[in-house]
Order: sequence, then structure tokens, then C-alpha cells
Amino acid sequence: MIRIKTIDHLPLPARVFYRVDYNVPLEGARIADATRIEETLRTLRILREKGCPVVIASHLGRPKGERKAKYSLEPVRARLAELLSADVQWASDCIGDEARQKANSLLPGQVLLLENLRFHAGEEANDDAFAHELHELADVYVNDAFGACHRAHASIDALPRLFPSDRIAGGLLLAREIEFLQKVTNVTERPFVALLGGAKIAGKIEPLEALVRLADTVLIGGGMANTFVAAKGVAMGASLVDKGSIDVAGRILDGNARAEVVLPADFVVDNMLALDIGPRTESEYAAKIAGARIVFWNGPMGVFEKEAFAKGTMAVARAVAEADATTVVGGGESVEAVKSSGFADRITHISTGGGASLEFIAGEALPGVEVLRTGDQ
Ligand code: 3PG
Ligand code: MG
Repeated sequence: MIRIKTIDHLPLPARVFYRVDYNVPLEGARIADATRIEETLRTLRILREKGCPVVIASHLGRPKGERKAKYSLEPVRARLAELLSADVQWASDCIGDEARQKANSLLPGQVLLLENLRFHAGEEANDDAFAHELHELADVYVNDAFGACHRAHASIDALPRLFPSDRIAGGLLLAREIEFLQKVTNVTERPFVALLGGAKIAGKIEPLEALVRLADTVLIGGGMANTFVAAKGVAMGASLVDKGSIDVAGRILDGNARAEVVLPADFVVDNMLALDIGPRTESEYAAKIAGARIVFWNGPMGVFEKEAFAKGTMAVARAVAEADATTVVGGGESVEAVKSSGFADRITHISTGGGASLEFIAGEALPGVEVLRTGDQ
């Protein structure tokens, strides 16, 4: 079992650097889904009740080291203030004089949100000098950014290493993610059915190969399915096919993995584009899910943002909710889909991580988790 340091052993009150994943889906400045903000409120409440000044840091999108207005965390600041019913102070840069001064003058229980970490290239480069600048903002470090723990970035990896080991911890969100995702990894009950969708295979290949060794059944949907079907030599019209991943898809299909890999038997097609799984696939997938004892779902079955292509995703959401199983849903879009389906409260665990949850259950070491580990057993 993986165990991480928790906030109970931190010398509190202290000035906290609180790394979160507020990489929320935005429609302009509107936050389409605030789950990632809401899930940090429990840790924030405890830290504030203990009298800690809290400096909050996050990334948003992929601005690639440049300051870009559309990736500002300003909209998040407003929503966070609303959810906390408290003022959230703001620093227009995550390092430098303004951030330092504001962090230093925070009173117990006050909260400061820093502008996007990824406006500095040092964040993704896991740069030590950048980490040292962040280090100046606080005395203890708490990480609840589960969704970014698979990234060896400065605020996730280099920064916690600069603190004494008794001054770093995972927050409540991180601890809960690890607890529930381990139920999936240490499969004690079977069948274990994994449901994978989303647009691309690229970037998910390693976890996918691990998953077909771990699960009993892997159901493939979404854009990812197109690539698998294409790998079997079927013409996919104008559909999104990840050409660079066809070989790997073929290898996964031909390999002698534990899992049966199931591809859609039919699609909902518009203008030569496969945009959702079809009705036969819906019932086949629902039946597989109904027989499962553990379900892990990452990635929608189609372009569910459009009502005409949402049916497949909604059908599997219902099947997952109704399954007599431990069910885990991860990834921004699948979580959004589950929430809009109205079944969210019937899922055992909704993960705030997409790529991170997939890598974790595939048994990969996540840098952000590794650095916080304590005597596992
Ligand atoms: C996510 O949304 O999956 C996390 O916030 C990580 O973002 P990234 O894929 O841009 O590193
Ligand atoms: Mg993502």
C-alpha cells in the first residue's frame, strides 16, 4: 500500500504553500465545471481553522511559459471566493516582489491565490531556481493537485524537496484519491472492467498496455476507438484517427494480455464521421459493466458536448452508476459527463485526475506522490 504524509503531522499553524489543480474547463471566463475547486474546500477549511495563512498555486491550461490572458486564474479566484465566502487575495505573478510581499503579510486564515504557475517555463522544466523562488512564499508545503501529480514539474517535484521532510504533506483530496485508486489497483474482486474513451491514444499508451494486463475487460470508445478499429483494417471515413498510434493499437489487440479488448460494434455517424458509439455497442458495454465488481472509467464515448452524440456516454454513465461494483471515474470530461447525467452521487469515487488516475492505476510512479511517501506497508 502506498501511504503519504498527511497534514496531521505538520507543525501548524504555519504559512502554507498549497498546490492545487485548478485546471478547470473554461468557456470564456465561465467555469464549466468547478469540481476541482470544490474538492479542495475541505483541506482549505482545516488549514484556515488552524490559523494558517494559505498561499494557493495552480496551473491552468498549457500556456508554455508565456503570460497569456486566456489562461489567467482570475476567474477561479472569483469562484473560490464565492465558495469560501471569504476574500481571496490575488498576486498577478506567482513569483517576485508582489507575491512575496502579499504572502508575507497574510494574516491567519487569509488566502492568497497566485497567477498561473505555467506562465513561467521553469514550472514545466522542474527548474530548481524557480522552485527556490516559490519556496520563499511559505514554511510548509501541502499538495492536493492530484490531477498534476504525474508531471515532474517544479511545484510538484522540485519544490517539496526544498522543505524539511516533516514540513511537506498531501492534503485531504490527495489522500482520498490514493485510497480509492488503490482499491482499483489492488484488485481483490473481479471482474474488473475498464472503460476507456476520449479523443487520443497518444499519451495513454503505456497506461493502456498496463491496463490490459490488469483488467479482465477493456471497453474502448470515443475517438480512441476509431484508431483501434482502423488498426483492424476497417476504413473509418473522415473520422479522427491517430495515425501515429495505429501500430500500438494493433499490438494491444494482437497481444496476449489478460483482458479481452472490446471495440464498438457500431457507431453514430454524421458526414462520414464516427461521433458516438451506436445502440448495439451501448447495450453490449452496459451488459459488461453490469457484471463487473470493479469499474474504472476514463474518457467519454463520443462528442457528448453535442446532444446528438451524447447518448452513448450517458448510457455508460447510467450503467456505471447502477453497477453493483466499486466504481471510479477519472478525467475532466468523464466527470463532467457523469455530473450532467445526474448519476454522480452513485459513483464510488470521482477522481479529479485524468491522465494522473490512469497512470496511477496502471502502476506507474507519480512524481508528486513519490515525494510525499512515508513508510508504506
Ligand atoms: C489535467 O487536466 O489533466 C491536469 O491538470 C494536468 O494538465 P496537463 O495535462 O496540461 O499537464
Ligand atoms: Mg487533461
